[in-house]
Amino acid sequence: MASSLSSAAVSSRIFAASSSATARLSLLRSPPSLSFSYSLKSFHFSALQRRPSVIVWSSGRFSTVSTPRCAASDPNQLKSAREDIKELLKSKFCHPILVRLGWHDAGTYNKNIEAWPQRGGANGSLRFEVELKHAANAGLVNALNLIQPIKEKYSGVTYADLFQLASATAIEEAGGPKLPMKYGRVDVSAPNECPEEGRLPAAGPPSPADHLREVFYRMGLNDKEIVALSGAHTLGRSRPERSGWGKPETKYTKDGPGAPGGQSWTVQWLKFDNSYFKDIKAKRDEDLLVLPTDAVLFEDPSFKVYAEKYAEDQEAFFKDYAEAHAKLSNLGAKFDPPEGIVTPCKGWRGKTSLLK
Ligand code: HEM
Repeated sequence: MASSLSSAAVSSRIFAASSSATARLSLLRSPPSLSFSYSLKSFHFSALQRRPSVIVWSSGRFSTVSTPRCAASDPNQLKSAREDIKELLKSKFCHPILVRLGWHDAGTYNKNIEAWPQRGGANGSLRFEVELKHAANAGLVNALNLIQPIKEKYSGVTYADLFQLASATAIEEAGGPKLPMKYGRVDVSAPNECPEEGRLPAAGPPSPADHLREVFYRMGLNDKEIVALSGAHTLGRSRPERSGWGKPETKYTKDGPGAPGGQSWTVQWLKFDNSYFKDIKAKRDEDLLVLPTDAVLFEDPSFKVYAEKYAEDQEAFFKDYAEAHAKLSNLGAKFDPPEGIVTPCKGWRGKTSLLK
């Protein structure tokens, strides 16, 4: 702790400096009579907080102060938050809406805009009321309310990371593939940094294939990724009072689990598997939903190649889904550290996960 100079004042001097430790320290004024060489050895990382401390010269004496965070999110807190998300999933069966939350934060990305955060994407902007009120986000305030207590418990995890962590954990806990995720996403800080309304896809546009391509190509995603990601509808339900799509309830949803009602795409709508592709291909059960943007996956010649493959081969679906989901989760994100906090999962190219 700084004793004679307020730690805020010292911190702000450190903050203003470059990201390299040496450059950062060079801005701190050494006492004129001393030739003092700072090095990385002056940093002490706390295993829990990962907040480095640094020795500074101020007001005639040396003291130790904490520097600002060294990463957007704290790896240990991410790990604990993941455990809390698992508990939440067990009690609330909210896997689908958490997946939707992560997707809608990331899916606003526009690859044609370079500047962050104007380009949109996974930056936590969906926590602001102005964006939650976009028509496409109807109902997602419920997802935010579910994970807000976890956010409050782990202040060292950004919203942007928490949204993606919640979504990835939900997929994995529902029986889906392990996802090659990374963390360290920086949050936007004010509502005026939210993207404008209209960047997410509509379910019933005049030309569904053209519309899907327009929206997903803008995100830098391709036909294979459009089809694989649509497979997330193996989870969850559509509710007429939210999106305007689906039945108020069906034989598969009238008893929950979780809040009853809505229309699911699949019979076991809390299980992540390839049944979405089988069911939308068959279109045999009036109680199962097929949106125009789902149906087109078996109508458009290019989409159809992937949709047929995924209906036949769950392993192929899982592999492509895992890659596409991780890519989606990184869209538009600004990472600190720039390479992200990499947490490969066990089973993902043989590596063991920090976030197991
Ligand atoms: C391809 C374009 C897409 C369209 C037009 C679309 C549309 C919709 C609609 C209308 C709903 C119902 C929302 C409600 O009434 O509560 C919904 C739910 C859902 N969407 Fe999508 N979606 C698309 C892509 C995706 C993608 C890429 C993902 C994830 C990777 C995803 C994940 C989900 C999930 C999990 C739900 C269920 C939410 C719940 O049960 O609360 N969707 N989607």
